[in-house]
Amino acid sequence: MTKLPALRIGKHIAPYPIIQGGMGIRISGAKLASAVANAGGIGIISAIGLGLNSPYFRKRNFFEANRLALIDEIQKARKLSPQGVLGINAMVAARDYETLVRTAAESGINLIISGAGIPLKLPEYAANHPDVALVPIISSVRAAKIICRKWEKRYDRLPDAFVVENPNQAGGHLGAKSHELGSSALNAEQVIPELVRYFSSEVGQEIPVIAAGGIWDRGDIDRVLSLGAKGVQIGTRFITTDECDADRRYKEFHLHASPEDIIIAPSPVGMPGRVIRNSFAEKAIAGDPNLEKRCIANCLEVCKSRDRKETYCIIQALDKAARGDVENGLIFAGSRAGRAEKIVPVAELMQELIC
Ligand SMILES: Cc1cc2nc3c(=O)[nH]c(=O)nc-3n(C[C@H](O)[C@H](O)[C@H](O)COP(=O)(O)O)c2cc1C
Repeated sequence: MTKLPALRIGKHIAPYPIIQGGMGIRISGAKLASAVANAGGIGIISAIGLGLNSPYFRKRNFFEANRLALIDEIQKARKLSPQGVLGINAMVAARDYETLVRTAAESGINLIISGAGIPLKLPEYAANHPDVALVPIISSVRAAKIICRKWEKRYDRLPDAFVVENPNQAGGHLGAKSHELGSSALNAEQVIPELVRYFSSEVGQEIPVIAAGGIWDRGDIDRVLSLGAKGVQIGTRFITTDECDADRRYKEFHLHASPEDIIIAPSPVGMPGRVIRNSFAEKAIAGDPNLEKRCIANCLEVCKSRDRKETYCIIQALDKAARGDVENGLIFAGSRAGRAEKIVPVAELMQELIC
């Protein structure tokens, strides 16, 4: 088997073209991100809601606690991986998005990956740190065109790469409406070649495309590289590792999922999410009025739970799950969850992925 190529994003080069996707809340923290970076991939800390379960959180200071906890997490990751390529994932939909991006850039992060909305102002927030690579997450060529045009016009710069997330397979919030899911127009086979063509014919610059959603093994990596991608972003597979920052019960829940347990549930963000079936997800789908809606942090720009008393409070649901309450929390997962047979060290998983 041929050796996988290195991945260059902006000024940063990882020996292998594998990015570990940011997974909130506290599923991908310093421990997972640094282990991936040390194994030759790119490790991503999810910046969302880190303050909640931190020593800084005291009721009304959620955003300040997030900021301080993010600094801690970046410092911890850098200590564990002095030479590795490390990034954060920040959601545009979060009210402290700008603060988290500025904080990460000031704290020496290499990369900022940003989705759950269109990151139109990302270059402005990172303007003082030109070495920080900026990577939007998109699901359609249309979104990439909007970002390229706006960034060029306003900031005279282009993204350093794009993560193209396939809503038919990825875990977490999905960049498509529920009724659009299943359409082959969203698949990598359609979107990646079209995007590569757009960059070469209209933008006149090669921007690396990173494929995300349902990537499980070396065969999947080879397939998307042959479509024109320069790398992959993998989330779910990294959950069943020793270094994943979630509680062991969360990892074991992933281990024991069956294909029919992977379902779509509503979220207060207004995007569907791919999750593992549990008591919480069933209630969310049924619209159970008793799910916790009390707003504890005012964390989202638009929140159906806070604004319309629909769905549920997502940070409490994600935090509960990450801390091991696997029946009463929300467990995001990609379409191929449940294939892992055991929890393994990241180095072992990376070896399997590259061989
Ligand atoms: C548990 C979990 C949490 C996630 N949290 C986030 C997040 O906070 N922000 C984000 O942009 N993507 C998030 N994602 C998406 C991942 O970063 C990644 O793109 C996706 O999982 C890729 O699909 P895969 O799981 O099939 O590999 C999450 C995914 C999972 C499984």
